[in-house]
Amino acid sequence: MLAKEIISINGNLKKLLKTKLIKERIIMLENSQFLCSTKIVFGKDASLQAGEVLAERNYKKTMIVTDKGIVKAGLLNGIIESITSNGIEYIIFDEVPPNPPSATVVKGIEVFRSNGCDSFVAVGGGSAMDACKTISMMTVNEGDINEYDNGGKTFTKKGPDVITIPTTSGTGSEVTQWAVITDERKNWKSSIGSPLQAPAVALVDPMLTLGLPPAITAATGIDALTHAIEAYTTKAALNGAAPIADILNLEAVRLISANLREAYARGENYEAREKVMLGSTIAGIGFPQVGLGNAHALAHPLGGHYDVPHGVANAILLPYVMKFNLIACPGRFADIALAMGENIEGLSPMEAAEKAVVAVQKLVEDTNIPTLNTFNIKDSDWSILAEDALKDKNSETNPRQTSYQDLLNLFHEANNAGVSEEKKNPIAQTV
Ligand SMILES: NC(=O)c1ccc[n+]([C@@H]2O[C@H](COP(=O)([O-])OP(=O)(O)OC[C@H]3O[C@@H](n4cnc5c(N)ncnc54)[C@H](O)[C@@H]3O)[C@@H](O)[C@H]2O)c1
Ligand SMILES: [Fe+2]
Repeated sequence: MLAKEIISINGNLKKLLKTKLIKERIIMLENSQFLCSTKIVFGKDASLQAGEVLAERNYKKTMIVTDKGIVKAGLLNGIIESITSNGIEYIIFDEVPPNPPSATVVKGIEVFRSNGCDSFVAVGGGSAMDACKTISMMTVNEGDINEYDNGGKTFTKKGPDVITIPTTSGTGSEVTQWAVITDERKNWKSSIGSPLQAPAVALVDPMLTLGLPPAITAATGIDALTHAIEAYTTKAALNGAAPIADILNLEAVRLISANLREAYARGENYEAREKVMLGSTIAGIGFPQVGLGNAHALAHPLGGHYDVPHGVANAILLPYVMKFNLIACPGRFADIALAMGENIEGLSPMEAAEKAVVAVQKLVEDTNIPTLNTFNIKDSDWSILAEDALKDKNSETNPRQTSYQDLLNLFHEANNAGVSEEKKNPIAQTV
């Protein structure tokens, strides 16, 4: 299946690369760098290799880091069977909530140590994988996990190996060196990154996503699409710093936008699930090379202060952020429109770019993403949320220069979507 997929990727890329717009923008620079140290096994039943992978590395007792929803869905069964049949002991730490706080990391370290474990298997979405990666790092590094937030302390030691097994097609955490942990004292989502934190092996098995509920399929799928779109238009990408990432990100846009509706509407459809998962993993390889943008900068405070699911927050904000960014790089957005299957023939770059926004908005509507106003954000909190978004590093890598007022306006636009004129919140005028 994978070989077939690779051939089809190459075919589609050739088609995409033939277009004048894209040829002009994917530039190879002498000094571009590309980093992905995780071994990836992709395909049907890849998760059943967990035991073999641990045995190859001589591990004796592993800690499975997951959440209660994964346990309830029965997703651990085959993985546990694979671990025990290879003569390896295991314990389950299933206390990871969505938007995991640093207290979960502290608890995880304690459970790992007190049970004499030597390795980790992370099974779940971004929350379980991120918690697991940071638990591993904090078993050997000093201090509080939040001190390692972007620009803070640097990890000096590598933790015990982490084998990642994603069950959502979203964050790409299975292959990234990043983890997002909530600092519950500040309601701040810390972005913690280090090459030492990259998982050792990712077992990417689309079978585990067949039962993913539609709403989570939609939100996590659009999170992955957001990674690809934001990374393809990030400042570094525009400078030509990431030609390899460009190719991965654009192909991720194509795979996800062409298959997410089917994965959402007919979850048991393996082929659609497989393509969305492939898109999510390759976006996970692509985006860390160049960073993200304002959708993530705005999504993080919504998660930190209001526990808005990460994918939902991104899906709500992405069309508004794209519209705001269009004038910074219309050509790149035109590429995205084309990768999303839009006909851009004969259009100016700006007209073609606008088609990308419409295509994303349509995907958000078709997959019934909730609107921002359903989260009942307090009027007095918008300024705090916009301040946090400005502090988030992703607003620095966004292609268009962004001010505090711009971020406030973006929240305002998104929050007023679908609200009658008289009920609209005038937060845009508050500064
Ligand atoms: N590390 C990174 O590079 C990176 C990138 C983006 C986002 N993130 C972070 O990842 C987190 C979000 O992760 P997520 O969107 O994958 O969601 P999640 O891990 O929070 O999971 C959401 C819910 O889905 C359920 N679930 C997951 N898989 C399931 C399945 N197959 N069947 C049934 N239920 C299932 C879980 O039980 C959970 O209740 C956020 O904290 C976000 O900030 C990390
Ligand atoms: Fe994300």
